[in-house]
Amino acid sequence: MIDRATAEKIKDAADIVEVVSDYVHLTRRGSNYMGLCPFHNERTPSFSVNRRKNMCYCFSCHKGGSPVNFIMEKEGISYHDALLQLAKKYGIEVQERQMTDEERMRQSLREGMLVANEWAMLQMEHNLTETQEGRDIGLQYLSHRGLTPEAIKKFHLGYALDRPTALADAAKSAGYDLEVLKAVGLVGVSQRGNLYDRFRGRVIFPILNPAGKVVAFGGRDLKGGPAKYVNSPESDIYKKNRELYGIHQAKNEIVRQDKCFLVEGYMDVIGMWQSGMENVIASSGTALTDGQIALIHRFTENITLLYDGDAAGIKASLRGIDMLLSHKMKVKVLLLPDGHDPDSFARVNTPEKFREYVKAHETDIIRFKTQVMMQDAADDPLKRSDAIRSVVESLACIPDPITAKVYIQECARLMNVDEETISTETQRMRVKVLERIRSERRHESEKERIDVELRQKEAPDPLPKHERTSDNDIQKKGQEPAAKPESRLYPLERQVVRYCVRYGMMDFCEGVDEGGEAVWLNVAEFIDSEFRADGVAFSSPTFSSALETTLAMKARYKTDAERYKTARQPEYDEKRRKGIDEIAEKALDLNMIAYEEKMLDERIDEEMWNDLRLFSAEYTGRMLASHEDDGIRRLANECINDTPPLSKRFDRLGQNLPEHERLVELLPRAIDELKQGIIRLRIDSLMKEMRDCQQNGDTSRIPEIMQEISHLHQLQSQIAKAIGERVISPIR
Ligand code: GTP
Ligand code: MN
Repeated sequence: MIDRATAEKIKDAADIVEVVSDYVHLTRRGSNYMGLCPFHNERTPSFSVNRRKNMCYCFSCHKGGSPVNFIMEKEGISYHDALLQLAKKYGIEVQERQMTDEERMRQSLREGMLVANEWAMLQMEHNLTETQEGRDIGLQYLSHRGLTPEAIKKFHLGYALDRPTALADAAKSAGYDLEVLKAVGLVGVSQRGNLYDRFRGRVIFPILNPAGKVVAFGGRDLKGGPAKYVNSPESDIYKKNRELYGIHQAKNEIVRQDKCFLVEGYMDVIGMWQSGMENVIASSGTALTDGQIALIHRFTENITLLYDGDAAGIKASLRGIDMLLSHKMKVKVLLLPDGHDPDSFARVNTPEKFREYVKAHETDIIRFKTQVMMQDAADDPLKRSDAIRSVVESLACIPDPITAKVYIQECARLMNVDEETISTETQRMRVKVLERIRSERRHESEKERIDVELRQKEAPDPLPKHERTSDNDIQKKGQEPAAKPESRLYPLERQVVRYCVRYGMMDFCEGVDEGGEAVWLNVAEFIDSEFRADGVAFSSPTFSSALETTLAMKARYKTDAERYKTARQPEYDEKRRKGIDEIAEKALDLNMIAYEEKMLDERIDEEMWNDLRLFSAEYTGRMLASHEDDGIRRLANECINDTPPLSKRFDRLGQNLPEHERLVELLPRAIDELKQGIIRLRIDSLMKEMRDCQQNGDTSRIPEIMQEISHLHQLQSQIAKAIGERVISPIR
């Protein structure tokens, strides 16, 4: 960290004219300097630099600011890094603020990881072109896919030799610490304790952050194996929902054109680059996350999503647009001819043709959504109203009222609904949407706060060595600072127990019983099985007994649920009878009668289903709230009455479902966070142990501790991965 005095010194030294001149040709105009704006494409200069104010400004795109702002925008780097860059330019020596031992340790671990990745990238680039195997297999494949040597170089593509420990061996002889290679996931450890190269025999796509540091790799299979791509696990230097493939290579062009294209795959980015479209990035096959959108937003507000024109592509293009809109992004969509992805399309078309196609076919996303949904609904009134509601939700996500108004006019016209109605509905919905976004942001920062707190609070004393031998248990029994409110794990345990206490009896997902038979697990059973799998338990006795009590409630719940259903049945029978009478009165033709009766049945089934879901959602809390045990009763009352901590996030289609219908997403995340918290605690305590060892000059234990830390890092990413991969099918 740069101390304040040095930061001031750097800012004083930085001269806006000199700084901008590194990027823009400036000419003197009165007391100002003018040039072509580096942030957008223009022919006549509107970028003005004022030496007296030490500021720059573009009259056309309104970007600019101080020298530091300019560097941040232009390079897409952080405030801290911009200061460093300026310090270098002006030869100012930076004494970074003394970091605490722990910060230094983490920092040096992170730096070590980046250095190792950089080395590995060069190594694998070398393999690709300078070894026989690399040329015969890797290079051969890439040329076959039509990649040019320039593209291969630009994206630093490489090849990992197909031997179990080729990279590990090379690292060892180059003097790299294998622990670090494990920490970044280049090298894994098998069940039997053997080392292996994670990417062996694959073509390598390094993933660079905006500043050009190698944070991860993607490796493509060449042998028709089960996993087409293998990626680096998450680590201290790689948080996958904050990175975008291609951003380093694309950022300048994104800024220059004030626009970016979003595609799905590595090959799509490179294919388009070869075709002369350089402002392309990939989400790597998943929906964009909040963090990724924020990253894009640093460079432009204009994004065009590229998808295959088949049904799956259309569906994918509509996913997650509300999130983009709420970030003030201007979103367009471009569907490629059926069966084409951007890579294949770029290969069969000249760059000019590709650009023409883009110009002719890119459509504003809201217009696109409206048209698709209305077409899909055709004359079905129910579908039509669903479509309108969904469009209105998107409209409500647009933060700027003037933009929103223009869209409202257009959508009203397209949907053939009067503008007033759409406008009122949007307004009504906006309150909800704003609340949703606000609470989402709040909870993001809340989560980060808990994270920071967990890291900062003093670690408990390290455990005696014999209790730390590694196995799958991430928490050792008997080691318990009871989770009192002041405990570091308390908020994380509380999150999990809350779902148990509120929704314990709700059916949750498919599981297997001891005999290997498929069974339905309810929420409590799911939590229990997750805990058992990793040897975790609540450290608070009250939480534990709440879980036990809930688990024991199942038989009673089943009887009660049956009874409830039977009691409600006559009411639904009555509804059905009435509905059928009404249909009969309308004197329709036979086809229509059959159709309307079918709709009626569906409606009533849906109503019943919701009714029963609600019964089961409320059951557990109600039972526990009148439990004989004081602790459980108090906990249940607390949980029932609090406002849901994470309930108001967007789901994948941006719908606002009640919390109990979103457990599929919320519950695994809460369990994951708890497990990660437990591991973090252990890592912290090991760090402390290591510091103590260093202070006492007892360095013999350090390798062992490092090894365990790295083991825990691995466990961390395994857990994150397992949570991501677990297939959960909600009952419906
Ligand atoms: P090619 O099939 O070689 O053209 O690759 P592609 O990059 O075009 O891949 P595709 O369009 O099939 O998938 C898009 C992206 O999803 C990829 O670039 C990967 O980031 C990701 N992806 C695809 N398959 C897998 C997989 O099996 N595992 C993982 N982790 N990611 C995958
Ligand atoms: Mn492809």
